[in-house]
Amino acid sequence: MFYDRQEQVRLLNQDIVGEHDAILHYLTHAWTVAYQFGPQIEQIAKDEMRHLKWLAHSVVALQGVPDLSTPAVNPRASLEEALESDINAEKTAIAQYREHIATIADRRVRDLLQRIVVDEEDHLRLFLGFQDSQHGKPWGEGNSSESIKDTASKLQVLVSMEYQQVIGYLFSSFIRVHRRSVGMDDEDQAIDEMKHLGWIGQQMAKLGQSPLFGHSISVDEESEMMQYLNVRKWANEGQQQLLPLLDRIIQHERYQMQNIVPDGWTVGKP
Ligand SMILES: [Fe+2]
Ligand SMILES: [Fe+2]
Ligand SMILES: [Fe+2]
Ligand SMILES: [Fe+2]
Repeated sequence: MFYDRQEQVRLLNQDIVGEHDAILHYLTHAWTVAYQFGPQIEQIAKDEMRHLKWLAHSVVALQGVPDLSTPAVNPRASLEEALESDINAEKTAIAQYREHIATIADRRVRDLLQRIVVDEEDHLRLFLGFQDSQHGKPWGEGNSSESIKDTASKLQVLVSMEYQQVIGYLFSSFIRVHRRSVGMDDEDQAIDEMKHLGWIGQQMAKLGQSPLFGHSISVDEESEMMQYLNVRKWANEGQQQLLPLLDRIIQHERYQMQNIVPDGWTVGKP
């Protein structure tokens, strides 16, 4: 049994990385090869996001720093492969949580891990059910024109930006002292950015493209807004079907810009 705080933080960070990995893989599968189970798989990914949050709060409570480094995503060519890998991910997670439950001394942490395992077991059941009932169509069939590539590359910039914003708001929400104020807190903002990420990612997947996640671009609310306004201008010239979605997100971004609480923290950077 580990009573050492640092060792408990190390184990919880392993669990965080596992949840992060599951989230990115499940979303990618839901948007691409496993789109016929998209809404159900997205719900599972939401559970993993909540697990990640609880784990991160626990790490901070143990005076550690949550590890939000980006796991590599391996794209899957078929629904069968995606479901197989998701089933394995759940089995691995369950085994790892059980190992950590047997190892970690702090009862509150053990109880939390036990609570998470209850969800993972149900996820495993759901994925096995999808595997039983699958009737897959090839994904992305007939989509290969230049205009699709152009649209996809514009949407990819938005996906990267939203992903960066999600990580930034999450990091702030985990690290800084919680303050009650009127309007959204960092966690609510992170959830909004996750929704944006999902909406744009789905648009990309509809074009037969696989969204990529990455930390490489530096972004704040102002540059995010500028990028959306640019893409909106471009969409207005021939991709009008995207306008309602872009307008909805732009409204959210406007609210976020008004809602920033100046406190010395830069989004995504402690
Ligand atoms: Fe999970
Ligand atoms: Fe799970
Ligand atoms: Fe956003
Ligand atoms: Fe934003």
